[in-house]
Amino acid sequence: MIEKINDLLKKVEEFKPQAADEIEQFRVKLLGRKGELNEILEEFKSVAPELKRELGQKINALKTQATEKINTLKAEFENRMQETPAGDALDMSRPGTADEIGSRHPISLVRNQIVEIFTRLGYVVAEGPEIEDDWHVFSALNFPPEHPARDMQDTFFIEKNPDILLRTHTSSIQVRTMEAQKPPIRVICPGRVFRNEAISYRAHCIFHQVEGLYIDEHVSFADLKQAILYFAKEMFGEQSQIRMRPSYFPFTEPSAEVDVSCNLCGGKGCNVCKHTGWLEIMGCGMVDPNVLSASGIDPQKYSGFAFGMGVERIAMLKYGVKDLRLYFENDLRFLRQFESAL
Ligand code: DAH
Repeated sequence: MIEKINDLLKKVEEFKPQAADEIEQFRVKLLGRKGELNEILEEFKSVAPELKRELGQKINALKTQATEKINTLKAEFENRMQETPAGDALDMSRPGTADEIGSRHPISLVRNQIVEIFTRLGYVVAEGPEIEDDWHVFSALNFPPEHPARDMQDTFFIEKNPDILLRTHTSSIQVRTMEAQKPPIRVICPGRVFRNEAISYRAHCIFHQVEGLYIDEHVSFADLKQAILYFAKEMFGEQSQIRMRPSYFPFTEPSAEVDVSCNLCGGKGCNVCKHTGWLEIMGCGMVDPNVLSASGIDPQKYSGFAFGMGVERIAMLKYGVKDLRLYFENDLRFLRQFESAL
């Protein structure tokens, strides 16, 4: 009988179930009403009294050990089930979790679209550094030394060297292109720009612009108008019209501000166009002869036009976004509304 008890103790020690129901089977076989322990207890009744004490202790030990082991094993399996709600981490037949496919950011979508429209007209993409110097952002673009755009309030300067700054517009790429290439030049320049502005629904300290530049012999204001009209129709629809209002930029002469007919009300007047029927989309003009000379291009021989627009603004008009901050918050509920990436 002692051998039987020792055998069972060993069995309990070595028991290593692979699945939860094996534990229950093991319990029934050992501790159940018709189980092995009860068989032993039956035999125990007829054991000689002088052996009863020793054997009784052994049987009790067997019972406690078995119960403890079974309870711990059960708890372990239970935990595993909770960690893997699928029930079993190795169940290869269950469906997997699908990868979430993102969508392109509206700013990227619109920037790509602007660039693509001008590439169709023969423009090529040019880029420049975000950390610039005074020459490329201001001086070469005919900004007088006291011009307010150079003011500390607008421009982020590097404290140790005020000649180094974060570009406030992508017009700096015009200068870099003219310094590096001979006309004819036709470039479209997308990029990020920085201004020291308080963040609100209509302003941000980081935003995006696309600059365009066309330099050749005999380029006229009519060419500029034609290029912008083509752009407006491609971006906002065939029915779009443009108008130009006289304006001032240091680097263009004459300069104009371009409006496109409001694509929401068709020009009749609504909240978005403030009942004017027109939406402002960009600045433009004929490149000032001083700017051509500063970059080593002969203003007697060549002329050209330039234009610059804010990508956030174009995207706002195209998608009816009312708060510029939404572009920067990365809220998926906002971002998911735009064209899927694939
Ligand atoms: N650089 C101007 C700005 O940031 C935009 C601009 C206006 C660019 C007229 C041009 C232009 O090339 O001709 O506000």
